[in-house]
Amino acid sequence: MKPDRGPVVRGIERRPLRKQSDILEGIMATKNGTSNGVKVAVLVGSLRAGSLNRELAEIAVTNAPDGIDVSIVDGLGTVPFYSEDVDSRTGVPVPAEELRAAVEAADALLLVTPEYNGTLPAVLKNAIDWLSRPFGEGAIKDKPVAVVGIAAGQYGGTWAHDDARRSVGVAGGRVVEEVSVSIGGAYQRFAENRPADDAEAVTQVREAVVSLAGSVALVA
Ligand SMILES: Cc1cc2nc3c(=O)[nH]c(=O)nc-3n(C[C@H](O)[C@H](O)[C@H](O)COP(=O)(O)O)c2cc1C
Repeated sequence: MKPDRGPVVRGIERRPLRKQSDILEGIMATKNGTSNGVKVAVLVGSLRAGSLNRELAEIAVTNAPDGIDVSIVDGLGTVPFYSEDVDSRTGVPVPAEELRAAVEAADALLLVTPEYNGTLPAVLKNAIDWLSRPFGEGAIKDKPVAVVGIAAGQYGGTWAHDDARRSVGVAGGRVVEEVSVSIGGAYQRFAENRPADDAEAVTQVREAVVSLAGSVALVA
């Protein structure tokens, strides 16, 4: 028999599913108690101008319910590849510093990403690496993190999303496993409509944001 490791295994959170309305009630109660909403920072794994994932991230921003403040962290393409030579206690490249500060200031992190060659895009992995250091005290440490995204393949980028969760867990984040949105068949599904016109995608990403924010209220 496997030993009981409790609810968190290598940063992966397993919680019973809760109703969205119950989660929102909890968030509003927390907000009213503290006069602050839950802050969610979003990292997008695609840099291209017409990115569907970028649009999904924008849906998360514009459709977030009252009490949840979602913002996209821009500039991931300017963050240098992680190297311990440039990550020093005395100075860090400005874009990496800004990335760390933005995630530090958030209560939770939403990763919105396509799949590249069966895994997560390098730009997102690079961001996770920067957020994982200093070892044991990186900006991602103990932060609830959810992963969603759109990809061309029929499985919607599940390899990328699973790999991102694994990496985040090793990096010290708290993966919110109950959030799982992998939208596939991108070229057909979004040939005519954009993600914002896709009612199911809009609902899924909104619910993902609520569940993620709800996990903040639980761990706080
Ligand atoms: C370098 C590269 C590798 C890709 N590999 C995969 C893949 O492994 N699985 C998949 O479903 N789609 C793959 N795609 C297609 C992307 O899922 C698709 O282009 C998606 O729309 C990209 O996201 P974006 O619109 O946010 O840029 C790949 C695309 C690129 C550019």
